[in-house]
Amino acid sequence: MAIQFSPEERNWLDRVAAAAQELGLETYLVGGFVRDKLLSRPTKDADFVCVGDALALAQRVADTLKPRPAVSLFKTFGTAHVQWKDGWDLEFVGARRESYQSDSRKPTVVPGTIQDDQLRRDLTINALAISLDPDRFGELVDPFNGLQDLQDKILRTPLPPAQTFTDDPLRMMRTIRFATQLGFTIEEGTWEGICEQADRIRIISQERITDELNKILLAEKPSVGLDLLYRSGLLERIFPQLVALRGAEYIDGHGHKDNFYHTLQVLDNLSRHTTDLWLRWAAVLHDIAKPQTKRFEKGHGWTFHGHEVVGGRMVPKIFTQLKLPLNEHMRFVRKLVELHLRPISLTKENITDSAIRRLLFDAGDDFDCLMLLCEADITSKNKQKVNRYLSNFQLVRERCREVEESDQIRNWQPPITGEVIMQTFGLSPSKPVGIIKDSLKDAMLDGVIPNTYEAAHAFMLEKGKELGLTPVSS
Ligand code: CTP
Repeated sequence: MAIQFSPEERNWLDRVAAAAQELGLETYLVGGFVRDKLLSRPTKDADFVCVGDALALAQRVADTLKPRPAVSLFKTFGTAHVQWKDGWDLEFVGARRESYQSDSRKPTVVPGTIQDDQLRRDLTINALAISLDPDRFGELVDPFNGLQDLQDKILRTPLPPAQTFTDDPLRMMRTIRFATQLGFTIEEGTWEGICEQADRIRIISQERITDELNKILLAEKPSVGLDLLYRSGLLERIFPQLVALRGAEYIDGHGHKDNFYHTLQVLDNLSRHTTDLWLRWAAVLHDIAKPQTKRFEKGHGWTFHGHEVVGGRMVPKIFTQLKLPLNEHMRFVRKLVELHLRPISLTKENITDSAIRRLLFDAGDDFDCLMLLCEADITSKNKQKVNRYLSNFQLVRERCREVEESDQIRNWQPPITGEVIMQTFGLSPSKPVGIIKDSLKDAMLDGVIPNTYEAAHAFMLEKGKELGLTPVSS
């Protein structure tokens, strides 16, 4: 079978082929590029394997491309990277195989043939190669029936799974990630291999694990991956807090829902409306503290009081554990976890403008994300119930829009700063300054005063008087 390339691809491909011929190197396109090409998935990363000196090949390619690209040579690893125009990343490596010394169980890597190299790869669909040799340019080299597996949507290791996963246990997560991204099925033996080797994931760095986890979360239906991670035993090793949500307890015939599968459904619901990784993380973590806050109240049933507060406190810890960034993304996730019950409390009757203003103030610019999360959180199987909740949320949105239009709360900055309070009463930073600031905020959010400088100034003077303060003359 011969593969066709676009004119853009021929642009760099012909030069790689020419450079390989000049150097007399048997060269192939391999791995993800070939897989994605056959699946018509767009990609800009191309990996080349040559039988021989990959650094020399990369250097020669870089010398012939115009504009001349940046080239990085990694001599210790025998790999090279050429970064070309329009975002094309070309990686070069020499074909390798494992060599077993009789005195050591650990293999060393030595130069090998293209077949040796394909055998060392994680999955048959990632072990396909395309020849760049002039007499068979574009020919698919497929020793493990990877093309058939691609067509059948099957994920299978080229070697016995135990060996492939022992070589690099991250491949277990990669397999589950591809199953999630591509909607493929994991072949039985490969799946058993993952379940048996799950504990080996412990030797993999947290960064690589989290990278795969994020890719799973960014898939169209992330629940597929999280469920596979759970069923294989990987999830309890990499993210035990999520596994703790699994299961339902019954007392006196009262049960609660399985919060693990509820969370997965919330995540899928939300993923239909956003590709924002951090909003998806908020869905993963919104109920994370339910196991810690679970109580059975006689005559009332199961409650999870305060799970949003305890959950909020768990966010930085989980971000640290998973080596996710401790920056504004973490603060965003924490805020959404903490606020995720607020909109539902506003769907009751007789809600005051003050409650609406407080939500707008607390959610600020993240109000729309919060509403998306809350809508995704409705997972009842009863369609009527779902529609009722959704139309209630629609009403909350409308009320919020009206109040926002008249009061502009979302990006509210107090018109009177702490600085002004200190100058007015001749104070240094102290408790009364905080008291006046807080009561100003409350007065504004409760609608006691309008959102203007004059009203705030008059309120400050009044509050100062109550506290026994006198303005200093300016
Ligand atoms: N590979 C492997 N084992 C790994 C990582 C990679 O065997 N743990 C091989 C696979 O053949 C893979 C190729 O190296 O196709 C390139 O790896 P990489 O660029 O990381 O992944 P892709 O398969 O291209 O897919 P993605 O970019 O989505 O990760």
